[in-house]
Amino acid sequence: MLRKAWYAVCPSSDVAAEPKKVTVNSRDYVLYRDKTGRMATCDGFCPHRGCDLSLGSLHEGDLICPFHGWHFDATGRCTHIPANKSGTRIPSAYRLNTYPVAECAGLVWLYTQPILDTTAAAPFVTFADLLHDDWQYVSFQQTWQAHFTRAVESALDVSHLPFVHPETTGTDVDPTVTGPDYTVSGSRIVIHPTPFAPSHPMEPINPVQEASSRTEIELRFPNQWIIRTPFGNDGIMCTFLTFTPVHDDVTNIFGIVMRNFDLDASWMDAFHIDHTWRVMEQDQHIVESLRPRVAPFQLQDERHVPSDVPAIRFRVMLRHALKEEQGGI
Ligand code: FES
Ligand SMILES: [Fe+2]
Repeated sequence: MLRKAWYAVCPSSDVAAEPKKVTVNSRDYVLYRDKTGRMATCDGFCPHRGCDLSLGSLHEGDLICPFHGWHFDATGRCTHIPANKSGTRIPSAYRLNTYPVAECAGLVWLYTQPILDTTAAAPFVTFADLLHDDWQYVSFQQTWQAHFTRAVESALDVSHLPFVHPETTGTDVDPTVTGPDYTVSGSRIVIHPTPFAPSHPMEPINPVQEASSRTEIELRFPNQWIIRTPFGNDGIMCTFLTFTPVHDDVTNIFGIVMRNFDLDASWMDAFHIDHTWRVMEQDQHIVESLRPRVAPFQLQDERHVPSDVPAIRFRVMLRHALKEEQGGI
């Protein structure tokens, strides 16, 4: 999968006094905080004999390998080798790769191309919906035994709702898909699913039907997804998901439910989380069964219909991005 991308790896609160191991695309990384409290990220294994650095410790902002005690600073440079006589020069190659890291929306985001190889890492950006001081946010996480491609595509697939979610988001949904009404601009795919669960409690009783006020799904390629449901009087309720490929058959999904009204109504937090969890478990059950596990980039290997187009657009974008990353485009 893509290396030049930002992936959510854990809640910010998980990174405290100890080094923490995270895995993306089958590679291990270690997260820790330097002595100023700033997040730092490096390779998961020591360049000396390959010890797991998450077993190490921190001393004055340096990461210390537990096997022979080498020190590394937050730039990845080896600053001390206890077995060497004092004054021995440490070659510059005795270093760890470090990676761009960001903290946003309560999550740690890791860019998985090393800083030294990254001439211009795209800065981390996310949806403005996640960044309000006066909205209510609740986070959750699921792990699916499914490939990243299948998991993301399921979130762009509007025709499965009445079949996979008959009592939730698919209630009373006409299986005939109108359109689908979608646009692609740059790295964004926006879908207005029609119809969309007209009688489900997550929908407003009298949904406003103007183009700007319909339920909207947006994917910020490659892995940030949000659904916005308008509730009238400027009320809006959203569910955000971001997909992180851990291994070929494991995808972590970090979610945040949010709204800008009735902020103190804790029953709404519970309702929104419970609803989202249930819907996602229904998706998980189906998506984990898909074969081949990786969505085929050769489009002729599957049979498509017009309602599949947003997912196909994602697949084509991903194929291009992978080729570009590997120097093929
Ligand atoms: S393996 Fe890390 S210092 Fe030897
Ligand atoms: Fe679904």
